[in-house]
Amino acid sequence: MLVLGVESSCDETSVAIVRDGKEVLANVINSQIKIHELFGGVVPEVASRQHVYQITLVFEEAFKVAGVKPEDIDLVAVTEGPGLIGSLLVGVNAAKTFAMMYDKPLIGVHHLAGHIYANAIEHEMHFPCIALLVSGGNTELIYMKEHFSFEIIGETLDDAVGEAYDKVARVVGLPYPGGPHVDRLAHEGSDTYHLPRVYLEDGSYNFSFSGLKSAVINLAHNAHQRGEEIKPKDLCASFQASVTEVLVRKTLNLAREKGCKDIIVAGGVSANKGLKERFMNEGKDFNICIPSIRYCTDNAAMIAAAGYYQFKKNPTLSDLTLNADSSLELLSK
Ligand code: KG4
Repeated sequence: MLVLGVESSCDETSVAIVRDGKEVLANVINSQIKIHELFGGVVPEVASRQHVYQITLVFEEAFKVAGVKPEDIDLVAVTEGPGLIGSLLVGVNAAKTFAMMYDKPLIGVHHLAGHIYANAIEHEMHFPCIALLVSGGNTELIYMKEHFSFEIIGETLDDAVGEAYDKVARVVGLPYPGGPHVDRLAHEGSDTYHLPRVYLEDGSYNFSFSGLKSAVINLAHNAHQRGEEIKPKDLCASFQASVTEVLVRKTLNLAREKGCKDIIVAGGVSANKGLKERFMNEGKDFNICIPSIRYCTDNAAMIAAAGYYQFKKNPTLSDLTLNADSSLELLSK
């Protein structure tokens, strides 16, 4: 089954063509990072306009790279939410137009299901499993007893982990998006600031990152007022140590409680080297599955893969009334 995936929920315009949820024939991504970097974050209006400029070019490029014709597509899968409404609308309308022009079945996919199924491209998924979803907008611990069954056990009560990375990066003077820069500096420094491990011992599976973020901001502010230098590498290493310890401990605790051997890590922050290292060191008794970097951040191959498994589980199609939903809930199919 040849699935066309379309993703435009934030600042990446992406179109992919994937066979049977595994064989990626094309995964074209036009990133707007250079544009939003000037503003220190994503500007929604600028993002939607940029998607409008790029979407047809990215469609054309995907078919060129894959070497297939529009007539060959069996299913069109598009991110219907959550995300920036103006951005989502561009992808949804492009996918609907394509489906109508070529008379192809259409399916709406949840963005977070896309991140989870990025793992299915390169690995077999085994159930039951725990998915740790860590991105710029989400931090969730999800129990999956089978394909497309999502039980959210824990989530952040305030900031998402990627958001905290981006804010800490700004304090340290690093460009947007800050996660990869903080990760790089963290590997050159040491955990000398001993930041709090929020909710580590509370027995719940929820997270909180705003207190940790404020601790970093206060530390930098107080040092500045006293005329002292902060050490950016050590501050990044300390922040990363706190974040990864809480994420990994809670995920492993939940996997033990639920009797799961398999753990999936998904979302942009799954590209973090410190997180990967800690999972590998502390999770030796588990099968830990993390996608390759190119499938960690937003891309349409993961949407095509998710669309394929969603259709196999529940072949209910969307019609041309499919609409973008900026706060779409992650529901089992
Ligand atoms: O999943 P994603 O591409 O977009 C959504 O939020 O859906 O995630 C983007 C987030 C940003 O906050 C970025 O700073 C973070 O992922 N990120 C990282 C790393 N690479 C990307 N955070 C920590 N370490 C990284 N290596």
